[in-house]
Amino acid sequence: MTFNRRQAILASCLAFFGFGHRSVRAASQASDSGFLELNNRLSFPTSLFKQQWDIVKFDAMLSTPEGDKRLQGVLLKTSDDVVGLSAFCTICPHEICQVEFVADTERFRAISDTVVGQPLFVCPCHFSLFDPMRKGEVIDGPALRGLYAFAFEVAENEILVTGIEAKVLELLS
Ligand code: FES
Repeated sequence: MTFNRRQAILASCLAFFGFGHRSVRAASQASDSGFLELNNRLSFPTSLFKQQWDIVKFDAMLSTPEGDKRLQGVLLKTSDDVVGLSAFCTICPHEICQVEFVADTERFRAISDTVVGQPLFVCPCHFSLFDPMRKGEVIDGPALRGLYAFAFEVAENEILVTGIEAKVLELLS
């Protein structure tokens, strides 16, 4: 299958999810490592995450030198064990489109030569693929890094999302 053919199929598949496209200049200045505290701490009951691939979307707010920014994210259960949770920002690190969680691996096989038997995050704009089982690492496409991670704490009955990887400022500035 040619790349253009795959692109066409991917675009039609992702249209199902109602994706839009917006292209924003990526900042060139690198920032320090670590996490930045969010304006709003987000709380979710642990009961929302009973089995692998249970997922909850959220919006977080972050103060930046350019003003407050809204960051879309997801909390995701990546394995059945107790600690198997991840939190990713769903803003594509390439050019700020919204990536989407695609759980249908059969549909996924039709749009990429990269065969994996598990859900992935897919960007509809230039078709970068991100692996939630490997900390959101990019596995295909033009993105130069993986998804930005949110920091979170797991208490007895709740999960608190508290921060975002500081390097996200490179993208937002
Ligand atoms: S914006 Fe996501 S791959 Fe380009």
